Amino acid sequence: MSGKLAGCLAAAAAVATGCMDFDEPSDYPCPPQGTALTWDNFGSGFMAQWCVRCHGGPNGYSSRALNNREAVQANLQRVFVNAAAGNTTMPPGPDDPPRAERDKLAQWLACGAK
Ligand code: HEC
Repeated sequence: MSGKLAGCLAAAAAVATGCMDFDEPSDYPCPPQGTALTWDNFGSGFMAQWCVRCHGGPNGYSSRALNNREAVQANLQRVFVNAAAGNTTMPPGPDDPPRAERDKLAQWLACGAK
């Protein structure tokens, strides 16, 4: 929290446009003991439930495929700032994952989305 606040203050000072209210990966470091979350036990299910209907590849609503571990890893920062922790840009619309699921996503991503 204090790290985030410091970042916001620094950003505000730098651009004087106020703080973009995005949770950054650096706000949610991978715990020292690592994470039990993996693509197989978490990531694949989360993405399938909340993202893949639009991010499933060339025939999806978005051309950006997020339907496998490598694709998520390659887009890790963007996935985080759109969907993890307090970030709620994705998925669009009223049907949102619960905050607890977004927190898990944050931890899984922070530990490398393995
Ligand atoms: C209802 C359809 C829909 C759903 C569901 C959806 N997205 Fe998106 N997403 C879009 C569209 C449309 C765009 C913008 C066009 C593009 O990037 O192809 C987009 C863009 C993005 C981008 C690129 C924009 C950026 O800021 O980098 C990311 C990353 C993303 N979505 C992640 C996700 C994640 C993660 C989920 C699941 C939690 C998700 N989306 C769910 C439709 C959707």
